[in-house]
Amino acid sequence: MPTAQSETAENQALSVIGRPIPRVDGPLKVSGTATYTSDHNFPGMLYAVPVPSTIAKGTIAALDTSAAEKMPGVRAVFHRENIGRFFRVPPNDDFSIVIDENRPPFEDDTIRYYGQYVALTVADTLEQAQAAADAVKVTYDEETPDVRTKLTQEQEPKVGSQRGDATAAFNTAPIKVDQTYVTPAETHNPIELHATVAVWDGTRFTLYETTQSIKNHQLAVSAMLGVPPENVRIVSRFLGSGFGGKLWPWTHDVLTAAAARALNRPVKLVVDRKMMFQTVGHRPLTQQRIRLGATTNGKLVSTQHDSLNHSSILDDYDEGCAEATPHLYRCPNLRVTSGVVHLNVGTPTSMRGPGAVPGLFALESAMDELAVKLNIDPVELRLRNDTEIDEALNLPFTSRHLKECLTVGAEKFDWHQRTPAVGSMKKDGLIVGWGMAAATWIANRLDCEATIELKADGSVRVACGTQDIGTGTYTMLAQMVGEALGIDPDKIQVVLGDSALPTGPLSGGSMATASLVPAVLEAAKKASEKVQFAATAAGPFSGQSVANLIFSNGRIHRKDQSPSDGVPYEQVLQAAKVSSVSGSGSSKGDFTDALGITKPKLSSHSFGTQFVEVTWQPEIARLRVSRTLTVIDGGRIINPRTGRNQIEGAVVMGVGMALFEHTIYDDQHHGAPINSNLADYVVSTHADAPAMDVVFLDYPDTHLNAFGARGIGEIGLAGVAPAIASAVYHATGVRVRELPIRIEDLLG
Ligand code: MOS
Repeated sequence: MPTAQSETAENQALSVIGRPIPRVDGPLKVSGTATYTSDHNFPGMLYAVPVPSTIAKGTIAALDTSAAEKMPGVRAVFHRENIGRFFRVPPNDDFSIVIDENRPPFEDDTIRYYGQYVALTVADTLEQAQAAADAVKVTYDEETPDVRTKLTQEQEPKVGSQRGDATAAFNTAPIKVDQTYVTPAETHNPIELHATVAVWDGTRFTLYETTQSIKNHQLAVSAMLGVPPENVRIVSRFLGSGFGGKLWPWTHDVLTAAAARALNRPVKLVVDRKMMFQTVGHRPLTQQRIRLGATTNGKLVSTQHDSLNHSSILDDYDEGCAEATPHLYRCPNLRVTSGVVHLNVGTPTSMRGPGAVPGLFALESAMDELAVKLNIDPVELRLRNDTEIDEALNLPFTSRHLKECLTVGAEKFDWHQRTPAVGSMKKDGLIVGWGMAAATWIANRLDCEATIELKADGSVRVACGTQDIGTGTYTMLAQMVGEALGIDPDKIQVVLGDSALPTGPLSGGSMATASLVPAVLEAAKKASEKVQFAATAAGPFSGQSVANLIFSNGRIHRKDQSPSDGVPYEQVLQAAKVSSVSGSGSSKGDFTDALGITKPKLSSHSFGTQFVEVTWQPEIARLRVSRTLTVIDGGRIINPRTGRNQIEGAVVMGVGMALFEHTIYDDQHHGAPINSNLADYVVSTHADAPAMDVVFLDYPDTHLNAFGARGIGEIGLAGVAPAIASAVYHATGVRVRELPIRIEDLLG
């Protein structure tokens, strides 16, 4: 298990929290010894390959498996009539079990999206299973699929937040913006493919899974398989990211488990890259109308945000585009609505910053259009509309420093040098455009349990049933425990990724770090109290009253001693002949509102600003994002190195969102997501990455937890695309309201 790298002398001087230590699991990853899900192999293991439908709408007329079954190495071909029974996850309002695609695989013969699994081959080798999958003959009664990209309202929109009279205030406002913004379907492309390795022992399943939530996975999969949760163990030691696509189970999970049970052999299934575009979620297409009304001096008087997003035929996935709109600015009259349009596409799911990220593309683009109309600087416009309280909830914020994000960002970016006229800035013969946007994302906590064991050999083990999606949870935990106990993080072994461990939070919604703090602090306190107690039994503190002993910096000392005269805890345990002591902590996610709906007493969010420079060469139509500055108000930063890494990764992803990413459904043929590979679905590469600067304001949010840490996995993506689109407008005079921004959009 990971341990921390040795640190520089300079770092030693800092407290453990805030120290930029390298990832504790880095050596395992770069040496290829970290076991990802598909790295698990077992004697007698078989390989499963799904058969995807080649239409997006219709019914299966005939499924002929006879040729496939006779092929070498084939153990079984499963389909609706022989897979056995799957159960639906029961509806639950409290989000205690979440699954986005609610229909179990093979439930009926109706095809509702391209790539829907219709059969599953299982064979001795991957190649045999693939060949058999190719040999399954499926005929369909095909109907014309609906994969349109212009959405029209299907039902009455759902009203989210509302205050005042937004319509009346808009109608009488002297300055108005009324525009519609579109973000395309985007597909998660983590390097690690989704995978399941299922082991059945006759009673219990052990499922090695690519999941961002081992606990939810255990509950959902056990419900679908019809076995008690205690008979399903989920293991997910390392993840090659997920971006939200791995938050909830997908249909391949239960197919693999059912195959392992039916054949009584371990079974491995890896979802291939093409299927990653079909069956494991995506960010849906959004179409958002923003209406802003303002006074002539730039004060918002009305905000309306009406969004539609596509979903699959059977599921009501609501992207929640107005997540940020009600609390970002002061505005007396506001109304936000949402609606879902059901198409022949796979079920959408959360993708990094769901809701707020596409939502802020619309809102912040509209704010830039308002600034242009008013001839007010876009930074100044945001400053004029800053709010002290969350007007949607009528609650104060736990900690909000958006104003400082704006002023610090403007200063560091040299924003005062900006001349507002389109195309007026030049550098090295290129036209330069500068744009900016504000950003916000939820800051919440979920329930968490953790255990810390202090051992007489001087090692420390912290265990929690959460997982590390790749953001640095192993490292965060080593630092939190190190800080709590005053022990060097390289002595701390972190154990994660197993549902048999004390229940931890999901790795999503930027909530894991904040959720871990209270449970870890309580566990550390309890474990250190046990050392104090052991100290009274034997050794130098024998016979002392527990109340007279203090645990600090990994040592026990008497109240009347200086801490440096204390005895290392491992010597205390050795003297008392105690091999180890352990303490457990548990905490509730009081602040949960994104998934758990508990009303908070305070409004808790992270904030930020994005400043962007683009260069534009009209002669050859070449657009580059050349420079970015991101200022983040994300609470106290536990590790500035992994923290910066999160923001830089998000900015690079934001460049992709603004300029490249776009899942295209083939509306001329069979409704397939047609650019379903990494050549045709373009994501940012190193060559597209701008020069990036990141500033953390580092104000502890102590309402959220004692360390004041929030999560920063998603805030860095918020605001990038609108800042780029505004910079493109500044450079070219073309306002692009439909992402991605294409060269064709900019040709005059
Ligand atoms: Mo994130 S979309 O909550 O993994």
